[in-house]
Amino acid sequence: MATKRLRRAGVSPEICERLQRQHIESCKDLLSLTPLEVMSTTGLSHQNALMLLQTVSKAIAPPVTTALELWKQNAVSCFPTSLSALDKLLRGGLPCGTITEVTGPSGCGKTQMCLMLSVLATLPRSMGGLDSSVIYIDTESAFSAERLVEIAQSRFPDYFCSKEKVLHMAGRVHLFRELTCQDVLNRLEKLEEDIISNAAGLVIVDSVASVVRKEFDTTLPGNLIHRSNLLGQEASTLKYLAHEFQIPVVLTNQITTHIGERGSAPPGEMDSGFVVAALGNTWSHSVNTRLIVQYVGTHQRQILIAKSPVAPFSVLNYTIQKEGICLSGNDSQDTLYEGTDSGLQPIRVRTGFNYNLTKSTDQTLP
Ligand SMILES: Nc1ncnc2c1ncn2[C@@H]1O[C@H](COP(=O)(O)OP(=O)(O)OP(=O)(O)O)[C@@H](O)[C@H]1O
Ligand SMILES: [Mg+2]
Repeated sequence: MATKRLRRAGVSPEICERLQRQHIESCKDLLSLTPLEVMSTTGLSHQNALMLLQTVSKAIAPPVTTALELWKQNAVSCFPTSLSALDKLLRGGLPCGTITEVTGPSGCGKTQMCLMLSVLATLPRSMGGLDSSVIYIDTESAFSAERLVEIAQSRFPDYFCSKEKVLHMAGRVHLFRELTCQDVLNRLEKLEEDIISNAAGLVIVDSVASVVRKEFDTTLPGNLIHRSNLLGQEASTLKYLAHEFQIPVVLTNQITTHIGERGSAPPGEMDSGFVVAALGNTWSHSVNTRLIVQYVGTHQRQILIAKSPVAPFSVLNYTIQKEGICLSGNDSQDTLYEGTDSGLQPIRVRTGFNYNLTKSTDQTLP
């Protein structure tokens, strides 16, 4: 990816320093120069300047791989969520190297999920963790250290029985509060270095929608294009980082309700509303795995695997407890239902990412 830092593209520290003095820091910056400009900035010969440009081009060229290699990697490229039925459906957990979005209405548990995943990432590998730090970008000031500790101590009481372990875990969650679009973009630009310096194995952005929706009134001319460009930039940086470091990137998103779209109901039924992940169609396609959380009654909630390259559309019931997210029942495939099982309302799938909540819209938007 073009924003890759030159230091990580095989360029010597001395040349990096010379280029940095002229504010040339990324591969894109360097590749925008002519060989002559590279020569004058670095003091290299023509031959060496061409070689430098070639090295940097190669460093950002998309790698060619085979299905066999990817298949072999897959065994170790998932981050278990500790929700066994969900992990089973996702073939091991949240995929590393790609973006997972958790979307749903306010209060449904997206931030709870992020806090729980943060705890899990710090656990040793023998316990299903990543034994790594976490970069947590909080755009809503919703992060609670107390709740993080409560989830850790309640979910893994044996492991977090000593104060040292709790402190160690909490110290590995690196929180960045970024409350404007520009702050988020600036943070994403520096994220590569943050990931390296903090040895992060998980990146969370909670939420990607709130600042964007606050700052862009899409009814005003031009704003929609501006917003799409910004989201495209964010998505491509996050995709690059996920892939480059082979880590899971988890984002939360809000929902948008479309009420009474004509033709959304099956024959014989009234047209009614459906909800989709916010931020539009282009953004929707940027996400590799989409989990939708929604309400079913007062205490019961559901996670839907709404988009996944490996799992079918599926629904799991969950509740939020002291321990964080807990699948209902015995945390097994028994909690899975599709169609009209368990007396719950049917869910009709509209497309790969839209889903219809024809009879439960009121519950979904309390
Ligand atoms: N200690 C706890 N024990 C049980 N449930 C809790 C606890 N703390 C929070 N909750 C539940 O989590 C809900 C809040 O979830 P969360 O903050 O994750 O929502 P969200 O989906 O991120 O919402 P938003 O879109 O507004 O950010 C509360 O309404 C409550 O039901
Ligand atoms: Mg939240």
